[in-house]
Parts: sequence; C-alpha cells; structure tokens
Amino acid sequence: MTDHWAREHLAESILDALAAAGKDLNALTVDDLAVTDQFHGGGKPATTRLAKLCGARPGLRVLDVGGGLGGPARTLAAEYGCQVIVVDLTESYVRAARMLTARLRLDDRVSHRVGNALDLPVDDGAFDLVWTQNSGMNIADKERLYAGFHRVLRRGGMLALQEPMAGPREPPVFPLMWLPTTRERIDWPELARTGAIPT
Ligand SMILES: C[S@@+](CC[C@H](N)C(=O)[O-])C[C@H]1O[C@@H](n2cnc3c(N)ncnc32)[C@H](O)[C@@H]1O
Repeated sequence: MTDHWAREHLAESILDALAAAGKDLNALTVDDLAVTDQFHGGGKPATTRLAKLCGARPGLRVLDVGGGLGGPARTLAAEYGCQVIVVDLTESYVRAARMLTARLRLDDRVSHRVGNALDLPVDDGAFDLVWTQNSGMNIADKERLYAGFHRVLRRGGMLALQEPMAGPREPPVFPLMWLPTTRERIDWPELARTGAIPT
C-alpha cells in the first residue's frame, strides 16, 4: 500500500508551486495549502463539514488515522483549536506533513507519526475523537481497524469518518483512487472470497 501512495519531495514540490503562484511561504495558511493537502473527496469543505458535525472544539484530543499530508489535522488545529496526532503508513507523507505543519507553525498542536492503522502506535483511551477520511478504503480488515479505533477512544468518545462506500453499481469500475490496477488485472474470485466485493 505504501508503494501506491509514496512520493518523494512532496512538501518541497508543494512549497515551490505555492511560491510560483506568488504566495508568501512565511505566511501560509491552511487555505493556501488546501488544494494540495486535503486528499479526499470534497476537499477542505468536506473537512469543515465533518468538523462541524462532530463538534470539533478547542482542546479536543484527536487522532487522525491515515492522515496523509495533514491538511485535515492542520485545519482541526488552526480553525477549531484541537490537539491532533496524525498516524500514516507512508513515510514520505509523514516527512512532508511534518514540514508543512512546521511551516504553518502548528507543531505545538499537530504531530505526525509513521504507523499502521491496524496497529495504532498510541495509548488506550487517549483520544476524544478518532478522525479518518478516505483511508479505511485502503484497509480490508475492517474489524481490526474499528477495534483499534475503539481501543484508543476514551469512553464516550466519537468516531468521525468519511469513506467511499459500495453503491448500487457493482462491481466497481477500475481504476479507483485506492487501487490503480486495471479491471483486467484484478483477481475477482479472490476479491469475492475475501468479501471485498459482493458475490
Ligand atoms: C487518500 S489518502 C487520505 C489522506 C488524508 N486522510 C486526507 O484526507 O487528506 C489515504 C491515506 O491513507 C494512508 N494509509 C493507507 N493504508 C494505511 C494504513 N494501513 N495505516 C495508516 N495509513 C494508511 C495512506 O498512506 C494515505 O496517506
């Protein structure tokens, strides 16, 4: 899965592009970055909508699972005052995310860790909110994924999620954002056997 997402020099490329567009790199905002770092359907407006739905507010301890380049985490920190830990499997994303967070001077409220959503590197019951956008779509073992969310949430905590879901048109038409392979190369019997698609 990291092969699918990994890209080198991401933060540098993003900052170069913003500089070329005339942005002051010493005064960047989450909105300046949003076109590049809100890596899910609906972009930043979807993040804002989800944040409002779950009552994001100052001091809320948030774990962003599969948080990518950190756009949603920085939004939760800068605009809602949350404290956010981001866990992502892809090292090059985590490196870029750290650079962007430092550039926005949000590193006192947002930190980034390399880690697997199926084995979250955080303490039990440590979060008020588990947040995840377009990341569970990469992970077949939903039972283990959700058990991990439950483990790290405090009692009465909340799960906020945005995911593509199977719709009435099955099987899905490839390539898809979480699976670039072409339809012909897919092992359909294997997908059906594992329950990834309905039989
Ligand atoms: C489409 S991006 C979404 C990034 C971010 N949530 C956002 O909305 O901007 C999917 C992310 O899931 C991460 N990911 C995939 N499988 C993962 C896993 N098992 N554990 C942690 N992160 C994972 C990828 O590295 C990638 O950053």
